[in-house]
Amino acid sequence: MSIQSVMLIGAGQMGGGIAQVMAVAGHKVYLNDMNMGIIKKRLEFIEKILTKDVAKGRISEEQKAETMKNLIPSTDQKDAADCDLVVEAIVENMDIKSKVFRNLDEICKPSCILASNTSSLPITEIAAVTKRPEQVIGMHFMNPVPVMKLVEIIRGIATSDETFAAIQEESRVLHKTPVEVRDVPGFISNRVLQIMINEAIYCLYEGVASVEDIDTVLKLGMNHPMGPLQLADFIGLDTVLAIMETMYEGYADCKYRPCPLLRQYVKAGWLGKKSGRGFYKYD
Ligand code: CAA
Ligand code: NAD
Repeated sequence: MSIQSVMLIGAGQMGGGIAQVMAVAGHKVYLNDMNMGIIKKRLEFIEKILTKDVAKGRISEEQKAETMKNLIPSTDQKDAADCDLVVEAIVENMDIKSKVFRNLDEICKPSCILASNTSSLPITEIAAVTKRPEQVIGMHFMNPVPVMKLVEIIRGIATSDETFAAIQEESRVLHKTPVEVRDVPGFISNRVLQIMINEAIYCLYEGVASVEDIDTVLKLGMNHPMGPLQLADFIGLDTVLAIMETMYEGYADCKYRPCPLLRQYVKAGWLGKKSGRGFYKYD
């Protein structure tokens, strides 16, 4: 199956990045969110990144114009009616995602594949709210999407071989490296990464070292590009907490218990870079 037209639900940092790489690959991409203001802001950000790519000689001015033309703002999920693929990238919450998938199942043509960029939630459960569970799949991109090469592909219990093959091929079309992972809470990426981030938050909570020093240990000691606390801010502390909650519940194992300090930050609205304050402060 060849994918030509796509809808991205959610024009946040992930939805915007996925929309960008798909538009660069020549797909027609509807970028959907709840209001035009959010979409406009995301399109301006994408244009800024592409302008830098032109300046660095990575793409031509014509390719930039073509990419921007491929991106179509949408505040109505009914625009997905003719799409070959829909990728959902909204908040990490099962109830809200289920509502969207139920709605998409009504709107989309029978051949359309419905994918979720969820960081941790069971694909099997998302698929079960639709009448096409064989065409529902996890397509987990990494942040920032235009830079990171990995896509974790997660099959729900009912996902068909055809759907898996189409998404594997699509990942390659986007110049990403797909890796198949079973449908377990947090998959591989977050099962491993978030334990480290949560442990770093515990170190801060227990007063073992300062924010900067904890990050310095991982940056200089292990050659990580960002320390775990900076990375948590970059991902979004609401997302980090949601992932930990899903793994804590899913594995029923206390090693996944979210640090109380993480809960407190999220309750305070300190969500990291996107809210202007997390472990660090941002302009
Ligand atoms: N969109 C597009 N490009 C971006 C970008 C974005 N949001 N953010 C950074 N970039 C680009 C920059 O424009 C820059 O490009 P050039 O080479 O053309 O200049 C390049 O990335 C490097 O950026 P910077 O020079 O500003 O900064 P840096 O060298 O520190 O790199 C980084 C930034 C790539 C984010 C790097 O710090 C890094 O790799 N951090 C770790 C990222 C990571 O671990 N991601 C996974 C998070 S977990 C996840 O995604 C799964 C989940 O479910 C939570
Ligand atoms: P974000 O907060 O930056 O963006 C979410 C966007 O979804 C917002 O613009 C919001 O307005 C929109 N939205 C919410 N409900 C909607 C609805 N019903 N219809 C249309 N739009 C809606 O979040 P994000 O960081 O981009 O994360 C999105 C998803 O991607 C989550 O499931 C998250 O777990 C996953 N993810 C995040 C990262 C990361 O590093 N942040 C990495 C991989 C996967």
